[in-house]
Amino acid sequence: MSKGYVVAVVGATGVVGKEMIETLQERKFPVAKLIPLASERSAGSTIDFKGNTIDVDVLNDESFIGVDFALFSAGGSISEKYAPLAVKSGAVVIDNTSHFRMDNDVPLIVPEVNGDAIKGHKGIIANPNCSTAQMVLLLKPIYDAVGIERIVVSTYQSVSGAGKDAIQELESQSRANLSGSDYQGNVFKSPIAFNVIPQIDVFLDNGYTKEEMKMIQETQKILRDDTIRITATAVRVPVFVGHSESINIQTKEYLSADDARKLFEAAPGVSVLDSPLEQEYPTPRQVAGEDNVFVGRIRNDLSIRNGIELWCVGDNLKKGAALNAVQIAEFLVQSRVTA
Ligand SMILES: NC(=O)c1ccc[n+]([C@@H]2O[C@H](COP(=O)([O-])OP(=O)(O)OC[C@H]3O[C@@H](n4cnc5c(N)ncnc54)[C@H](OP(=O)(O)O)[C@@H]3O)[C@@H](O)[C@H]2O)c1
Repeated sequence: MSKGYVVAVVGATGVVGKEMIETLQERKFPVAKLIPLASERSAGSTIDFKGNTIDVDVLNDESFIGVDFALFSAGGSISEKYAPLAVKSGAVVIDNTSHFRMDNDVPLIVPEVNGDAIKGHKGIIANPNCSTAQMVLLLKPIYDAVGIERIVVSTYQSVSGAGKDAIQELESQSRANLSGSDYQGNVFKSPIAFNVIPQIDVFLDNGYTKEEMKMIQETQKILRDDTIRITATAVRVPVFVGHSESINIQTKEYLSADDARKLFEAAPGVSVLDSPLEQEYPTPRQVAGEDNVFVGRIRNDLSIRNGIELWCVGDNLKKGAALNAVQIAEFLVQSRVTA
């Protein structure tokens, strides 16, 4: 066996799991052995990793024996049941689902923003919601420079954020509609082709959706400040990959748009694309496949004194999921923080 770590990927046949496997390979994470895990539906299937074809195993109670890192991306109920088993077997779990994110004992990590919060973890580390991950990369430099009072965010989220069946639904429904027929999907209640749906996840008693509340609570947890007032509207759009966000930030002290641009230019994981006169600003078609989160349309809010308005686009499968998870594993390896 070559030097490195035994890495299990739970949900290896899903959009995030596949991206995780590609990211491990791309970033040359020291993998001695990869164990792809999925449901019985995937029994007999294989994945390619570093030139080898590897069988996908069906997840079971014994799957984590000898595993160093277990990257989970198969839904909350799977993480709830199997993440504690993986930790018991001695693995460090990096969980992409929302199941553990708000647990006090579980650090919620974007390495560039709060990597130091990994210290003292108890075996499970959570990856934030895709829309939160890309937003906090931009909030952090502003928060450190001038403080943040309030955030108003509206998202335009791609269908890949809802998994492989959602991608298939948009494609099939678009083709059907263009040829004049109907296509009844089962991922989205309203048609997603040629439409916009102002609902992601279920509605809660307060009128917000669970996705919107995740953005609010997770942002406060990552920035370690629950006094920041945040309101969010999460919207699904007929885009395959790449989440966009319109973000309005009310700061504690005045910040000019030029100074905000300079802060973003120096921020890790962020690229500025902001030449409106040349019609240059980030779009999901441009940003899909990119590691960095892109920001443009940076301007001062005309309606308040201390306000910054911006447009941000990130690849939800990369910084919003797989890349961030692998960066957490890299951070653990580099800082030798073990369970
Ligand atoms: N998509 C995103 O942008 C994103 C971002 C952040 C977090 N997440 C979270 O990541 C998770 C997966 O998302 P996804 O988009 O990759 O979904 P997906 O494309 O639908 O894939 C789901 C994966 O989970 C596996 N799975 C389902 N039930 C299972 C079971 N009973 N036992 C073992 N494996 C099982 C599936 O295996 P089979 O192929 O065998 O069914 C598949 O590999 C979700 O919790 C989601 O909220 C997604």
